[in-house]
Formats: sequence, C-alpha cells, structure tokens
Amino acid sequence: MFPELRMRRLRSGKIRDLVRETSLSVDDLIYPMFVDENIDDVQNTASMPGVERLPLSKVADDAKEAADLGIPALILFGIPSKKDDMGSSAWGDEDIVQKAVREVKDELGKDMLVITDVCLCEYTDHGHCGMIDREKGEILNDPTLPLLGKTAVSHAKAGADMVAPSGMMDGMIGAIRSALDENNFKEIPIMSYAAKYSSAFYGPFRDVADSGCCFGDRSTYQMDPANSEEAIREVELDVLEGADIVMVKPALPYLDIIYRIKNEFKMPTAAYNVSGEFAMLKAAAQNGWLDEKQVMHESLLSIKRAGADMILTYFARDMAKMLK
Ligand code: PBG
Repeated sequence: MFPELRMRRLRSGKIRDLVRETSLSVDDLIYPMFVDENIDDVQNTASMPGVERLPLSKVADDAKEAADLGIPALILFGIPSKKDDMGSSAWGDEDIVQKAVREVKDELGKDMLVITDVCLCEYTDHGHCGMIDREKGEILNDPTLPLLGKTAVSHAKAGADMVAPSGMMDGMIGAIRSALDENNFKEIPIMSYAAKYSSAFYGPFRDVADSGCCFGDRSTYQMDPANSEEAIREVELDVLEGADIVMVKPALPYLDIIYRIKNEFKMPTAAYNVSGEFAMLKAAAQNGWLDEKQVMHESLLSIKRAGADMILTYFARDMAKMLK
C-alpha cells in the first residue's frame, strides 16, 4: 500500500510506453466512401466536414489516396440516380456500387480490401431497409431476403472482397450466405451489422447517403438502445447463420456492448464509429472547444480498448495521417 506502492512510478517517460495496454494501428481502420451516380464533381457534405460524395470518376483516386496512407480496407455506399419501391438499383451489374467496386479493384487489386454495404435503404424511394407494404406501413422481412441475397451476389461478381449487410432483417445472414455459396462465392466473408441500434447518431449519414425514411422510423427492425441481452442474441444468431465478423453500431455510446460481444463470442469484432459521433467531435473542434486530433485518437482508442478489432470511421484518413 501507499507510501511503498506508488502507481505514478510507471507513468512517465519511456516506461509509460512500455506499460501501454492498447494501441491503435492503421491496420484497424476501415474507410467509408460514398459514391454518387448523380454528380460529376466531388461534393462536400454539410453535417460531416471533410466527408465527400464522389462521382464514379473520382472513386479510384480517392481509394488510392487511402491505400497510400496504409489504410487496408474501405466500405462503399452507393447513391443511385433512380430509386423505386424495391430498391432495384441495388443489384444490377451496371449500378453504381458495382461499377465503383470494379474501378477500385482495377486500380488497387489486392492493395485494398473492398467491402460493400448491403442494404436497400439508399435505393428505395421510401428509404426503408426492406420492401414495404405501403397500406399497412409495414416493412416486410421475408420478401426482402432474396433481394439482399441478389445484391450481395452482384457485389461479389463485381469483385467485392467482403459484404456487409446492414439492414437488420431477420435471417439476412443465412439468406446471403446461401446466395453467395450457390453462386460460387464460398470464399467471400460476411461482416454482419449484427447489433445495430436504432440510433439518432445516424442523422448525418442519412443526409449524406440521401436515405431518410418517408414514413415511420427504423425502430421496427433496429434495436432498442436500452437493451444489451438482446445484442447477445442478435450476434449469436448471426454467428449461427454464418457471419464471419460481427459488428456493433454505433460505437462510442455502446462500448459496453462491444466489450460484452467480444468477451462472449471471441469473434472478430468490428465497431462502427458512426456519422453522429464524427459530427459531434468535428463541430466542437471547429468551435475551438476540443482538440480534434486528441479527441479523435482518444475516441478510437477507447473503441479498441473496449474490444473492437477494427473500426469503421470517417476519421480513417486523418487517423492514418496522425499515426504515420
Ligand atoms: C444502413 C446504414 C446506416 C448507416 C450505415 N448503413 C444507418 C441507417 O440509416 O440506419 C449509418 C452509418 C452512420 O451513421 O455513419 N444501410
């Protein structure tokens, strides 16, 4: 006990480095990219400073810049020119994400792992993640599954290295695994947005991805922020259905969930540091209220410390630069 024991002995100089338990590396980062079929020039986004919507012609260059920073992986989101009831621009071979995947793979090959977000919300005119019954105002689970399967297969065909279903439909991982296997994509892993909460922190993303809902919200399929046992059940089901990596989303308000999931399943675990988490820090930094680099590093480190093996974050490029 004190005064013989002094915790401060290990806190300064090089010894502080030696006893550090967690570290953040560029290998932990996944860079989210938005490719927009409707634009010819790069567009800034108001609520996410520094995050851009890219035309197809700029996608490969942007991915190359990320690769040059040492970032190992990116995740692609598409903004199509046509939206309809079923989200049918999600799965065509000539649709925006499929084209973007080909551009990046042509440019970078094995130097960049290309992940695709598999969901219908950016492609449906109503903005929901599944098919709907308009009269009843319901999101239809089972009829959505084959569409997600088709979408995942089209991404794999275009050259995607991994698919990431984010729609929170029951049975989606099993449906996508079967669709991939039947089409000879047995080697393509699935990163499941397994514990995805119905969160107000997605606000800026919905502006950027143009995927707001026209009626209701997503609480009939996304999880209640009050629940954690349910997250365990969600992850367990996704693992049984064939998920290779499980994700918790958002990250910072759900560090306890990341911790529990990692401990219970010992699965490769991803965390999504979402748009609202990014926007808060940016806004405070722009006002001079917080030191942006330090809070970025501390936030991402906390997500690692909680148990995440990898982090999807809009800070990916800035963090990679800082780590260099
Ligand atoms: C759904 C999807 C969402 C995000 C990524 N994929 C959320 C949603 O609108 O429900 C949110 C990511 C973020 O906020 O950064 N396809």
